[in-house]
Formats: sequence, structure tokens, C-alpha cells
Amino acid sequence: MRILITGGTGLIGRRLCSSLLEHGHVLTVFSRHPETVRSLCGNAVNAMQSLDEYHVDTEFDAVINLAGEPIVDKRWTSARQKVLRDSRIALTEKLLQKISAANFKPEVFLSGSAVGIYGNGGDQLLSEQAGVGKDFGARLCADWEAAAGRAADMGIRVCILRTGLVLDAAGGILKKMHLPFSLALGARIADGKQWMSWIHVQDYVAIVRYLLDDKNAAGPYNMVAPHPITNREFTQTMASALHRPALFVAPAFLLKLAMGDMAELLTGGQRVQPMHVAELGYEFQYPYLAEALHDLL
Ligand SMILES: NC(=O)c1ccc[n+]([C@@H]2O[C@H](COP(=O)([O-])OP(=O)(O)OC[C@H]3O[C@@H](n4cnc5c(N)ncnc54)[C@H](OP(=O)(O)O)[C@@H]3O)[C@@H](O)[C@H]2O)c1
Repeated sequence: MRILITGGTGLIGRRLCSSLLEHGHVLTVFSRHPETVRSLCGNAVNAMQSLDEYHVDTEFDAVINLAGEPIVDKRWTSARQKVLRDSRIALTEKLLQKISAANFKPEVFLSGSAVGIYGNGGDQLLSEQAGVGKDFGARLCADWEAAAGRAADMGIRVCILRTGLVLDAAGGILKKMHLPFSLALGARIADGKQWMSWIHVQDYVAIVRYLLDDKNAAGPYNMVAPHPITNREFTQTMASALHRPALFVAPAFLLKLAMGDMAELLTGGQRVQPMHVAELGYEFQYPYLAEALHDLL
């Protein structure tokens, strides 16, 4: 397949590129820094710097749309919220305008989202049928999904990747946690009862390949392993994988003080089930956290 990937230089995108190249696909990565694409994504990958390079005669069989400013890097001021929204929603709208104007339409459009769409779900088990939350993160995801969903009006098959915490030693949550846990400074967050829905990056990439290939796949997919875990259990599993104690607690009020509304990402959570992934017949390589951490650390 000829595949365009936005966000292809990111944590997930880089792993995806490597796997898709191995499987013989021809890749183009949209990046604000096209000079980095070959070194980050592979020598055979083409770079697209601007969506204006998507001409009427451009032909892609599939588009994977992951681009977006990092959610956790800065406090969610109203200016930052606009940046987070524009880098996902406005970019998706512009991409779909380009696709709409092109003579050749991709067969499938895979677009990012997050399990944060469900808001803070407490202990409730959440499948793809669960309702949308009310906080900023949930609304961001819902609006991003709605923008992507317009590809279906052009007869394109649309799959939405409702992504949980992606575990990869190279970056993301695991890299952030690794140093403090290695120094025995790992900490449970608040009462530790909030749920963490995670996925090994290798499973994530393999499911994306399933979604590209399965002509019947469409709609939202919870991209999470089948065994989510509470923050308390996650902390213990991580500490024991690194043979270190985790004796500390990060209190909720301190996190709220330091991070503002963004603290909800840590003090709240979602207990998510990958129901639609199970219906694809996909078998997880890493269904349990201990095995995933053993592989990654
Ligand atoms: N990793 C996770 O645990 C996780 C969980 C839930 C949801 N997600 C979502 O899944 C997507 C991919 O995640 P990731 O961890 O791979 O993200 P990442 O490492 O932060 O990479 C994001 C990519 O988006 C592009 N980007 C950032 N800001 C942009 C902007 N203003 N305009 C255009 N492109 C921009 C960057 O490409 P260039 O710098 O090359 O332009 C970068 O490669 C993100 O949207 C993320 O929110 C990730």
C-alpha cells in the first residue's frame, strides 16, 4: 500500500513506519521537519512538509493520521488548549479537504484519539459503546473523531484509534517513569485506585496493520491491552520489574497545584476493554503488564 502518515516522526509513528516498511508498504510522512524524516522513520520514507503538496493527482491507498502537539508537556491554558485542538482538528480538516479535492481517494483513513474520550470513568468497564466525558481531554478527542469521521462521507473506510498509554522504552510514560523508579523514587499517585489502560507498542502496531488489511474494520477501536490495572498495581509492577521499592505517594492536591486541570490525567483514569479489537480476532502478544514491562525494561 502507498500510505501517508501524519505524526510519523512521533513515538508511535516511528515504530509504525519501521513495521510497515518491513511489510513492504511505501510510506510518506507529513512532518514540519522533513529533514528529520529519513533518520527517524527510515531511509526509504518520503517526506511531505506541507499539506499543500497533496495535489489533485496525489494517490495514497491509506492515510494514518496521528499528528498532534503533546498533551502533557505544558499546562492547559486556554492558549495551549487551542494549540492542542488546532494541531489535531484543524489539521485533520485540512487533510480531508485535500483528499476531497484529489481524484484518487484512499481506501482507508485511520485517525488518532485517546481513551480520555470517556473522561474519568471510575471503576466502570468501558467498551467502545461508553459515553463521552465532559472534561477538556474528552471534548478534544470527541471533536477530533468527528472531524476524522467526515472521511466516511467520501466513501472512505474510517477507523478511530482510541489510544491508551502506549508503552515503549524509547519514550512516552515509561521513559518518564524509568529514572525515578530506578532510583527507588517511584511513587503511587493519590490513592492509586484510578485505572490505567495501557498497551505495548508492538501490539499497537500489529493492530494498526490488522485495521489496514481488514476491509470490514471500521469505527472506534480501544487500543489497549485486555488487562488494565490500577495505578497502585502499576506502581508495584513497575517497581518489581526494576527490583526497586516504590515507597512514595504523590498527593492529588500537589499535582493539581503543579499541573492545574492536566492533573486529571493522573488522578483520574479509565478501565477500558478492547472489545472491537477482540472482534477482529487479534491475539495480544502482551496481554499482561508484567510481561510487557519485562520485555521493555
Ligand atoms: N503515546 C501515547 O501514550 C498516546 C496516548 C493516547 C493518545 N496518543 C495520541 O496519539 C498520537 C501519536 O502519539 P505519539 O506518542 O506518537 O506522539 P508524539 O511522539 O508526541 O508525536 C506527535 C507527532 O505529531 C506531530 N506534531 C506535533 N505537533 C504538531 C503540529 N502542531 N502540527 C503538525 N504536526 C504536529 C509531530 O511531527 P513533526 O514534529 O515531525 O511535525 C510528532 O511526530 C498523538 O496525537 C497523541 O496525542 C498517544
